[in-house]
Amino acid sequence: MRKIRIALTKGRLLEESIALFERAGIECESLRHPGRRLILPIADGEMEAVLAKAADVITYVENGVCDIGIVGKDTIMECATGLYEIMDLGFGRCRFAVAGPKERTLADGKYRRAATKYLTVAGNYFERKKMDVELIKIEGSVELAPLLDLSDVIVDIVETGSTLKANGLEVYETVAEISARLVVNVASLKLRKSEIDAFTRKIEAVLKA
Ligand code: PRP
Repeated sequence: MRKIRIALTKGRLLEESIALFERAGIECESLRHPGRRLILPIADGEMEAVLAKAADVITYVENGVCDIGIVGKDTIMECATGLYEIMDLGFGRCRFAVAGPKERTLADGKYRRAATKYLTVAGNYFERKKMDVELIKIEGSVELAPLLDLSDVIVDIVETGSTLKANGLEVYETVAEISARLVVNVASLKLRKSEIDAFTRKIEAVLKA
């Protein structure tokens, strides 16, 4: 049988994931010097870490080629359809928010057009609020859309709030709190339960400490 594989989100979450493993006593020296390698041995060779973009972490875990994953709740909300989210890891904290120009009274829900990278999250939110809002897909720097008058608001990730502030925007409403989560493939959780449990117990012990 192949080794248990964990898919890790590259970028901001990776450094925190490594720190968490180290505190949990999971050896991960290779992750400190990955070079161009994408699959690396960890846990003294007992596990494999796969370095991937957030949405691909979901794809690999849902398809069972990775058993476990670490990914942001934002990506889970936008992309995931069938995996278990078993733990809030507490790092990578930020939020999804509806934001728009300062000093405009759109907070009463009168906005009609929202720009976002997260069509599913935004669509679900406005549907829940029974608001008829046209969504416009933007790939990056969503903040531009209201500045250029393409949309009234944006639905986007806010961490420190400095991007909004620098562009004369402010949060109107919080859509959801976000942090890194541990996700597990549905079949793996049954078929390789003891190995996955052994791993999650180590992580849990650190989070509870
Ligand atoms: C995110 C988000 C905002 C910014 C918010 O973009 O889309 O633009 O971070 O962070 P702040 O509240 O701390 O200013 P990111 O930097 O991830 O780049 P992206 O456009 O590639 O997603």
